[in-house]
Amino acid sequence: MDPQKPGLKRIAVIAGDGIGKEVIPQAVRVMQATGARIELTEFDWGADRYLRDGTTVPPDGFAMLARDFDAILAGAFGDPRVKTNIHAKEILLGMRFKMDLYANLRPVRLLDAALCPLKGAEPEDVDFVVLRENTEGVYTDAGGVFKPGTPDEIATQEDINTRKGVERIIRYAFEYCRSHTKLDGSPRAKILMCDKSNAMTHAGGLWQRVFKQVAGEYPQITAQHMYVDALCLQMVRDPRQFDVIVTNNMFGDIITDLAAGLQGGLGMAASGNIHPGKTSMFEPVHGSAPPIAGQNLANPLGAILTAAMMLRHLEFPKEADKIEAAVLEAVRQKKTTGDIGGSLGTREAGEWVANRVTI
Ligand code: NAI
Ligand code: MG
Repeated sequence: MDPQKPGLKRIAVIAGDGIGKEVIPQAVRVMQATGARIELTEFDWGADRYLRDGTTVPPDGFAMLARDFDAILAGAFGDPRVKTNIHAKEILLGMRFKMDLYANLRPVRLLDAALCPLKGAEPEDVDFVVLRENTEGVYTDAGGVFKPGTPDEIATQEDINTRKGVERIIRYAFEYCRSHTKLDGSPRAKILMCDKSNAMTHAGGLWQRVFKQVAGEYPQITAQHMYVDALCLQMVRDPRQFDVIVTNNMFGDIITDLAAGLQGGLGMAASGNIHPGKTSMFEPVHGSAPPIAGQNLANPLGAILTAAMMLRHLEFPKEADKIEAAVLEAVRQKKTTGDIGGSLGTREAGEWVANRVTI
């Protein structure tokens, strides 16, 4: 926080590529409509900048974000013109890894029964959160190829799991569970750890041991376990049983796309990349969606709900509540984009929510 301007929070905005450039301006306009005391600074990091001058992240970019901002709002990164995806890797994974944003928090909430593909599912049936480990696993890009391009080629991809990394995400999950309620106001009470320890015995064994140890410190919270394949089945058969799920980087990535399906698709899903006490980054779960980019078709609600999550994190709970209520109303009145049954464009859907928060 800037000592010259008490209460004012500084937010870095990195819209990125594709539909990121369309949905983030809508999230910004909605935040501004709440009147929250925020100061926004935009950065042009993304494919256009990379193709123009070869920059992915300017020198000291991450240090600057950590030093000068209270939070970051990011869109999506990925552009068909950059085949290697190097800019996305350096910007997005760079923020997660180099800023050590180890907890990827992905709430899974059904706002309206009409959005869920499951028969008979009501909003109270889908209200859980996934905590994905965000700095390790197979995403560290450790490994290599030997004899590439020959019939004897060997490729390895290492799954990195450190005691420190596993323990801090599991602890975060228990603390989250202890301090949060469900949408209906009832306390969160269960944590399910998901792994594949039957096949991936070494890494899974570490997760199992740490989970049991940390669970012992929270006797009031029910600790459960499921293999990731069984979890996928249960998520579509009976999502009501889930409360808080904690898992590794890759399983968290995969199951949250499945979970997004329960809440109306990728256009509805929000996320935060958090390290308590550090500058954290918030982004919709979806990518840059090149086929629909630039056509005013993308659903901005995931980005708008992400902005609400960020405002809550920055201690603007009233403003966050207003945004969430306005999004709920947009969904109920079908003032939305086509992917969830409305007939508005990206801009018009954003405008509707922005107008609604000022009521
Ligand atoms: P994607 O999330 O961009 O799209 C998947 C599907 O969902 C597409 O059919 C798309 O049209 C639809 N979709 C996504 N967001 C939507 C929205 N807001 N409204 C309406 N429909 C929406 O994932 P995909 O296709 O796998 O990846 C496209 C590019 O995005 C790639 O370059 C990929 O690497 C990148 N990506 C970036 C992410 C990030 O920056 N966090 C996350 C996922 C992918
Ligand atoms: Mg993903």
